Amino acid sequence: MLTVVDCGARSRPLRSPHYPAARATVTERILHPGLAGKIMGAAQAAELIQPGMTVAMSGFTGAGYPKAVPQALAARMETASAAGHPFKIKVLTGASTAPELDGALARVEGMELRLPYQSDPAVRERINAGNLEYIDIHLSHVAQHTWFGFFGKIDVAVVEVSGIREDGSLIPSSSVGNNMTWLEQADKIILEVNRWQPEALAGMHDIYYGTALPPDRKPIPLLHPDDRIGQPWFRLDQDKVIAVVETNDPDRNSPFNPPDEASQRIAGHLLDFLGREVKRGRLTDKLLPLQSGVGNIANAVLAGLATGGYTGLSAYTEVIQDGMLQLIKEGVLRMASATSFSLSPAGIEEFNANVDFYSRRILLRPQEISNHPEVIRRLGCIAMNGMIEADIYGNVNSTHIAGSRIMNGIGGSGDFARNSYLSVFMAPSTAKGGKISGIVPMVSHVDHTEHDTMVVVTDQGLADLRGLAPKQRARVIIENCVHPDFKPMLQDYFDRACRDSYAKHTPHLLPEALSWHQRFIDTGSMLL
Ligand code: COA
Repeated sequence: MLTVVDCGARSRPLRSPHYPAARATVTERILHPGLAGKIMGAAQAAELIQPGMTVAMSGFTGAGYPKAVPQALAARMETASAAGHPFKIKVLTGASTAPELDGALARVEGMELRLPYQSDPAVRERINAGNLEYIDIHLSHVAQHTWFGFFGKIDVAVVEVSGIREDGSLIPSSSVGNNMTWLEQADKIILEVNRWQPEALAGMHDIYYGTALPPDRKPIPLLHPDDRIGQPWFRLDQDKVIAVVETNDPDRNSPFNPPDEASQRIAGHLLDFLGREVKRGRLTDKLLPLQSGVGNIANAVLAGLATGGYTGLSAYTEVIQDGMLQLIKEGVLRMASATSFSLSPAGIEEFNANVDFYSRRILLRPQEISNHPEVIRRLGCIAMNGMIEADIYGNVNSTHIAGSRIMNGIGGSGDFARNSYLSVFMAPSTAKGGKISGIVPMVSHVDHTEHDTMVVVTDQGLADLRGLAPKQRARVIIENCVHPDFKPMLQDYFDRACRDSYAKHTPHLLPEALSWHQRFIDTGSMLL
């Protein structure tokens, strides 16, 4: 049983909700009469959120986020602002959401603080303009930091579900994320019941209620990616529910681009490497559970696995994207465990058309379990994540452009990089039309230290850093991963650092180490 952490009294009491003439009849998705009696419109539900509140919302990678209440709240904020009474809230989510949540609230300057991972352009703009405080933390930490009380009291949870059962328990939607924690920890709950979500999601979730707080924690009894350790439904304290809103709206589900040439080359280098590891007997032909970041390169790697002759693999990851469905269909993957779907419209069509097949092969878990360091270490995952840049010693920057400008966030990359059997970071060798090098003398921001990075891959090649000391790592990274336009510059830096650095363990020329980034800020290019 989870221990409830009491973090003190709520600062602002919620208004007592005024329910419309009770529509206490159940619907096909809302089978509990008491909760059916709390159905109301999104605008009325949004009225229950007060200025300054901490609001925890569902959503992970554009899936399973509330769609109606955040937009209604944004409209109310806009009206209040026009009347000279602007207000903001603090927003906690699972990871990135979508324009209807992050975008809508950001555009009306409605968030004073947000966490964790985001990828919305309007949010990014506000963060980098200094108008929105952003806490970028490991995705596995969000739930436990909430339980520890590090974020204070959660006033309201706004959680999308795909249905409410007769006994009031909840059928999760297309992402689980932190919803278990939000429902347990929030003072009040607003539910969005989304009829667009496939009915077949029911039963695909594994919600684990066994995470106690220190010093009473027990091992998480998950020994294989397909182990079920929890229950398919969220439990619910019905007394906390202040509104139920019905929706019928799609997830963000943007279509995927076909992998570009650089991504295909990166995928090729990585797949050759995995093949060599199998030949050397360090991995079997079933590999180890795969974790794959999202995006172009990750999709190319997944597509490459399909042609690599592998069968019966497993995935222990965060997000199921189209590439994974394809691998499951072809038998390359026998199953996948994640916390969220992120499917294109074509992927959703495919899922719905073969729902019985997929629902027996996919499990969605809370993100504190999908990203749990203990489980990742036990399973021995193969972690494959994108990066902004790496330096010659293997430190990795996944989040910041030139030290200060946030791109998205660390997401789950740190959860997996530190704890996996293999941690791989991938990026094109150049960005912005060749003006920026993906490998630099010193990273301008560190998300993953040299101690966590085992393999660096660019379109130029792969650097296997395992068992190497700093100068050895630098030589193999410069030799294998750097674009020819930057290679002589980087070799020259390293040679001079080896000669002139005040100590020779990790040679650097400090006044010069970040000069590539300064040149990019000054001239728009890292090239001399
Ligand atoms: N300097 C400046 N800009 C850079 C850059 C660099 N070194 N490297 C990449 N960029 C820019 C690209 O030009 C692109 O900009 P645009 O959107 O204006 O075109 C943008 O960053 C994204 O780069 P792209 O090459 O398209 O890569 P991506 O979509 O694969 O994203 C990350 C790369 C690092 C941003 C992404 O993987 C990420 O957010 N990672 C951190 C979280 C994570 O790993 N999640 C998975 C964990 S489970």
